[in-house]
Amino acid sequence: MRFGRIAAFLAVSLAVAGSAPASAHPSPGHDDGSLRAAARGSGVHIGTAVDMAALAADAPYKAAVAREFDTVTPENVMKWEVVEPQPGVYDWAAADQLVDFARRNGQLVRGHTLVWHSQNPAWLTEANYTPAQLRALLKKHIFDEVGHFKGRVWAWDVANEVFNEDGTLRDTIWLRALGPDYIADAFRWAHQADPKTLLFLNDYNNEGVNAKSDAYYALTKKLRAAGVPVQGYGMQGHLALQYNLPGDVLENVRRFDRLGVKTAFTEVDVRMQLPSDTAKVQAQAEGFGLLLRACLIAKNCVSYTVWGFTDKYSWVPGVFEGEGSATPFDENLQPKPAYDTLRETFLLVRR
Ligand code: XIL
Repeated sequence: MRFGRIAAFLAVSLAVAGSAPASAHPSPGHDDGSLRAAARGSGVHIGTAVDMAALAADAPYKAAVAREFDTVTPENVMKWEVVEPQPGVYDWAAADQLVDFARRNGQLVRGHTLVWHSQNPAWLTEANYTPAQLRALLKKHIFDEVGHFKGRVWAWDVANEVFNEDGTLRDTIWLRALGPDYIADAFRWAHQADPKTLLFLNDYNNEGVNAKSDAYYALTKKLRAAGVPVQGYGMQGHLALQYNLPGDVLENVRRFDRLGVKTAFTEVDVRMQLPSDTAKVQAQAEGFGLLLRACLIAKNCVSYTVWGFTDKYSWVPGVFEGEGSATPFDENLQPKPAYDTLRETFLLVRR
């Protein structure tokens, strides 16, 4: 199977290399040159994280979100600190705007994220609540948020970044107060609130085979054996050129395939130490391409989402000092080689 697909990939690559691009596309009449058109029929959705301030203020940005992607993820506006700024006081406005935008543009929504150690409201602390109260608050949060978006969110990142690099559970407010079963509970609650939405684990540095992805593999197996509704394994895909690109991504994705869960690349970007140059920009394209190839070759990989598509609004420069240029479009919304690689990969690699 694996070699069959790779052989097919090579055969298609060779065939297409010798023919006009239009004839390679399965529906040439509908190819407007966008990523979205290239992804059509591939079985893999192409998504981006959306910055709601940019969507409101920047018309070319907004047009590009609609043109290039068939899936959107709120970069921040579904996080707990945004949706419940005061206890019991909800603010769904920005998230609802994105969901409405997606509906108007025929896009799916990936919800992000329900239980995490970061971007929680300031009032949500262990000093303010007992463990039993924290458990009740998490349950209510998940029921209220998943319930609010019921039928409108295609997939949820339920539990975000629960493991350390060495495969031990991350020390968080949730682990301390609720114990390790908080993960299973979160999935059960989310499933009860919307039985049709797909429920994902999600993390970074878990794209290749390593201690962290091993821990996810073991957890997924255990949860599924116990009947916990976990349907997906998310790999953020925050790569950096100064580290090696992960080499065994396909092997990792395929072992989750065999567990019967869906997989997704959920937050792909490939940052570099600035200044950028031609070689770095080419290496970056390889990073974007290698994750997409694995997704297209694997059987159950359902989506590939970039964490922002333009350097104009990328989170990278603000968080990683001296680094940037991490997305497929530059600050002027001009495509970089990574963009062409993504398009070509969608057109060449078919299941
Ligand atoms: C980041 C956003 O991009 C920033 O705007 C915000 O300030 C911090 O969070 N992993 C995740 C995302 O799961 O939610 C993070 O998003 C990036 C890392």
